[in-house]
Amino acid sequence: MKLPLFNADSKFIVIWEVYIFLITIMATILTPLIIVFKIQDMPLQPFLEALLTVSFLLDIGIQFNTTYAVRQVLITDRKAIARHYLKGWFVIDLLATFPVVPVLAFLGFGKNRGILQYFRLMRMLKLLRARKTLNRTRKLRFINPAIMKLSLLVFWIFIAAHLVSCGWIFIGGNSIIPDLSSPNSHQKQYMVAFYWTITTLTTIGYGDITPRSEMQLVYVTFVMLLGAAIYGIIIGNIANIIASIDIAKSKFREKMENISTFLKYRNIPGKIQTQIREYYDYLWESRRGYEESRLLSDLPKSLKTQVAFILNRDIIEKVPLFKGASRKFIRDVVLNLKPVIYTPGDAVVVYGEIGHEMYFINRGELDVTNQDGSITYATLSSGQYFGEIALLFSAPRTATVRSQNYCDLYVLDKNTFDKILRRYPRFANNVEAIAATRRRELGVNENMNASVETAEEGNGESPLQH
Ligand code: CMP
Repeated sequence: MKLPLFNADSKFIVIWEVYIFLITIMATILTPLIIVFKIQDMPLQPFLEALLTVSFLLDIGIQFNTTYAVRQVLITDRKAIARHYLKGWFVIDLLATFPVVPVLAFLGFGKNRGILQYFRLMRMLKLLRARKTLNRTRKLRFINPAIMKLSLLVFWIFIAAHLVSCGWIFIGGNSIIPDLSSPNSHQKQYMVAFYWTITTLTTIGYGDITPRSEMQLVYVTFVMLLGAAIYGIIIGNIANIIASIDIAKSKFREKMENISTFLKYRNIPGKIQTQIREYYDYLWESRRGYEESRLLSDLPKSLKTQVAFILNRDIIEKVPLFKGASRKFIRDVVLNLKPVIYTPGDAVVVYGEIGHEMYFINRGELDVTNQDGSITYATLSSGQYFGEIALLFSAPRTATVRSQNYCDLYVLDKNTFDKILRRYPRFANNVEAIAATRRRELGVNENMNASVETAEEGNGESPLQH
């Protein structure tokens, strides 16, 4: 029977690997308990054995039919897949799958039942593959990798503690405690062993349960060494993990500290220091401190376009001028929009200056005033734009535009603006109509002509199609 070829990243394989991982953990927890408490006749045991054997056997079949990737190239050739698996995990998987105990019993080795039990521990070999499965969790976007790492560290420490506890019971470590001898006290025995393990692993070691036999002495020495190693791993990892839970935040904090030190060193007045700090707070709140344009600069063009689309989606939706525009038009505009932030009271555009760009408002309010600020012509807000008159007429700025609060704007430079006007006449007509109204309100000479010729049809595409 030929199984279909599975994609290593498919949902089915992910779920399957998680299932294998879970039953391996179950075997890791139950098998040592069955051995140390000698509960071979547990009614569930044959079922457990059968479940593990069948699942692990199926897993081998699936592994022979699962693609793998080499540098993002998917290998689908069955022979190559088989070779890859045979050279890799096959032997481990086979050892973990083989039902050693029933087979040996069948072959007549059933008398040594006690010794046969230890072969069951071979199921735990499958744990070696757990790393591969757990690595996949890194791809789960909804889990913070640092939190995942911390949880896994705790999880593995508990598994190690479980195995050490079982080992301690196995070598009779608990014999020092008098009332544990009754056969029904498994639970209490385990609790005492686990307590001993944790006190030893954490290097607390109360000394209330101490080794008696030579074997126990060797075991304790080994566990103490293991404890020291685990302790080191925990201390070393925790600080790292906590710092990396929010890399962006700690990087940003570091940057803030550098800036603060510099400002103090150069005696920058307190008021300006506060303003700078507030600006960075805003930068953190509005975009987690990232400068978008710099972040995207390394990406190939196709990816950059896709990301720019997503990042600038809110502005595209907000500006009525863009509503219903063709995708091509949006792409031409969006790729050329650069985000900028202005702090409260900043003059974004100053009356009489030469203008090289226009602005779209994403967030915040801005006042359009005359030169000395005594007359406010309008207050612009999210979705509106300004600075187009200077570009359209190659004339000085007709007003001052000042931010009332923190403003998230997108800048469009004159070159792109001119290109877009030429290519998309309907857009040009709309911008010109609004500019004419604004100029009328300002009382600017109406005879001034727009400097950009918009008669050209470009590729015939209308930006405002519905
Ligand atoms: P520009 O002249 O380049 O710079 C100042 C900008 O203020 C101007 O372009 C317009 O975009 C904007 N503006 C001028 N008058 C008004 C108005 N009455 N209402 C809204 N915006 C205006």
